[in-house]
Amino acid sequence: LANGIGITPPMGWNSWNHFSCNIDEQMIKETADAMVSTGLSKLGYTYVNIDDCWAEIHRDTEGNLIPRRSTFPSGMKALADYVHSKGLKLGIYSDAGYYTCSTTMPGSLGHEIQDAKTFAEWGIDYLKYDNCHNDGTRPTVRYPAMTRAIMRTGRPIFLSLCEWGDMHPAKWGAKLGNSWRTTRDISDTWETMLSRADMNEMYADYARPGGWNDPDMLEVGNGGMSKNEYIVHFSLWAISKAPLLIGCDVRNMSQDTMDIIFNKEVIAINQDSLGVQAKKVRAEGDIEIWAGPLSGYRVAVVLLNRGDWHRSVTAEWEDIGIPSETHVEVRDVWEHKTLKKEFLGNLTATLYQRSCKMYVFKPKPISNEV
Ligand code: GLA
Repeated sequence: LANGIGITPPMGWNSWNHFSCNIDEQMIKETADAMVSTGLSKLGYTYVNIDDCWAEIHRDTEGNLIPRRSTFPSGMKALADYVHSKGLKLGIYSDAGYYTCSTTMPGSLGHEIQDAKTFAEWGIDYLKYDNCHNDGTRPTVRYPAMTRAIMRTGRPIFLSLCEWGDMHPAKWGAKLGNSWRTTRDISDTWETMLSRADMNEMYADYARPGGWNDPDMLEVGNGGMSKNEYIVHFSLWAISKAPLLIGCDVRNMSQDTMDIIFNKEVIAINQDSLGVQAKKVRAEGDIEIWAGPLSGYRVAVVLLNRGDWHRSVTAEWEDIGIPSETHVEVRDVWEHKTLKKEFLGNLTATLYQRSCKMYVFKPKPISNEV
């Protein structure tokens, strides 16, 4: 969407994956505090996004959405002020239907202008717009009203379309939003996580600055996967230029969780100015190579072992789009080291079961041949 935001994929936190409907203003404030005190905000994780279940089931007599009195008694303006005072941004959630997916609150269908105005008045910076309980018309019929309404507020609000991939939103999402879900909901398992990454990869050509494919939010830190599996999760989201929306309780993170989501080098790949989503450039059974260009003639590469046995994996330059006679300097962004050797033509690594390696390749100019 040409609203000047989302030039790199959005980074922040969202309440749904860990808390589902168990949310309140105290927890959101504590999360904002933790985003700052842990150093997450400095790394670029600036959105604090409230998902479903924040509003009363009935609108007021003038048709306005009302924050749930029992859980958000101070209201959203006060919460936005608090979040902004920390240098962060506040996100909220609605739905292009009569009710949101939880059915605990109204959707915005038919109330787009009024609700967009309300969100802007509160100081909202990000809207996730879901697709449940709609009138049966296509999303391309229902979503534009909210896009127009948001644009008319004059406030820069990141618009995240949550259509779950049914009607190939990658093909029309860029006109209507800053990101679009390409998949059904993620869950905290290895298989689901990989399937979301796979589905999202098919639409790689549609991603660009201002409009990103969204394979759903991160599960890192929620406990359902091993550390190596979460490293794969984070690596694939980063190289796929996916939104990096943390989905765990950032007030209580383990060292393993922090080792992953605080990795500056991996974040830098996601936030690279070129904004090109990586693709699978080779897949052979459980072994895959994912690669995509970065600024400065560099290339981001993931070597992935999806299987249950350790394997030796080789990345060939010709798959990655580098001429085979090129010398390459290789940075391992999980080990945080530049490999001593320069590589020519290919690189082989041994990978544990369900794990990956992630590199930045920096080709050296081809030497002049006589
Ligand atoms: C849908 C969305 C989820 C979440 C829930 C909330 O399932 O895809 O990401 O927002 O609704 O009810």
